[in-house]
Amino acid sequence: AYEVTEFFPDLGEKGKWFRITAAKLRDSSGRIFGAMETLEDITEQKTAEEELLKRTKNESLGTFADGVAKDFDSLLTAILRNVFLAKISASEEDKILENGLAIAERAGLQAKELAHRLITFAQGGYPVKKNEKLDVIIKDAVQKVLEGSNVTCQPVIVPDLWPTEIDAMQIKQVMENMITNAKEAMPEGGVIDVIAENTTTGTNIRTMGKGNYVRIIIKDRGVGIPRENLSKIFDPYFTTKETKDRGGIGLGLAICDSIIKYHNGLITVESLVGVGTTFMVYLSATPNDGKNGVSS
Ligand SMILES: Nc1ncnc2c1ncn2[C@@H]1O[C@H](COP(=O)(O)OP(=O)(O)OP(=O)(O)O)[C@@H](O)[C@H]1O
Ligand SMILES: [Mg+2]
Repeated sequence: AYEVTEFFPDLGEKGKWFRITAAKLRDSSGRIFGAMETLEDITEQKTAEEELLKRTKNESLGTFADGVAKDFDSLLTAILRNVFLAKISASEEDKILENGLAIAERAGLQAKELAHRLITFAQGGYPVKKNEKLDVIIKDAVQKVLEGSNVTCQPVIVPDLWPTEIDAMQIKQVMENMITNAKEAMPEGGVIDVIAENTTTGTNIRTMGKGNYVRIIIKDRGVGIPRENLSKIFDPYFTTKETKDRGGIGLGLAICDSIIKYHNGLITVESLVGVGTTFMVYLSATPNDGKNGVSS
């Protein structure tokens, strides 16, 4: 008997894996008169294995990245402190020195920002969950990211938004990353819709069970995401942007994804090239009985 697993790229939506086993058929005198083949669809098992491998890889990469990022952070702190000291002790007339130090300082601050992003990504796990005011987090993030830009947003938050147990810092980061992406998708400026509302799902949405959720919708009218990129946008280091002077290296959504996963939530995305993109973030919530409101 023999056994092979083979991938058939043209079957189904994303191709299928089959395990093929064949056994010889013999007659009563032992002569081979044929073979019996069985086909078993093992696509799901294969996908699960790949997912697990990716996770393990991401986890060890995370531990490593966390260490490196923290070392970088303290080295940068030392560099920046000395640049600052040099700057204040440089003589008034020395413009070249002053400019040089200002550039070094900016680069240092950007590198620090990058180190912090890496730390968040690497630590991705272990949110410290508390009952937090999601409306404040959303409004702060919108304000921080869009201030002074040509993109505007008036968040719409239902007044009786259900309380959520979340890590405020992490969810703020999710909001900032997504609003930054929405802004960057509209270089000519425009309007972003941000809505936070209560929703109850009676059926499972992908990995998310039935239940009560707060849904945050972030909708832009930007460049959109081509279909073939939709499955890649949450991968670490996937980016279609030129990094230029920004820290952008394709970690934004990877960070969002790991944070929301550890919150047992879900992110969905819909996009049309040239029309815009809508991200939805689901966070588990407890319907309010009107008495035990959100702690402050
Ligand atoms: N709102 C959006 N509109 C259009 N494309 C988007 C949007 N959000 C994400 N993308 C696409 O997904 C890619 C990955 O996004 P992600 O936030 O992870 O990285 P980035 O924005 O490129 O870099 P970084 O977030 O690290 O600055 C982007 O490069 C872009 O191609
Ligand atoms: Mg981004």
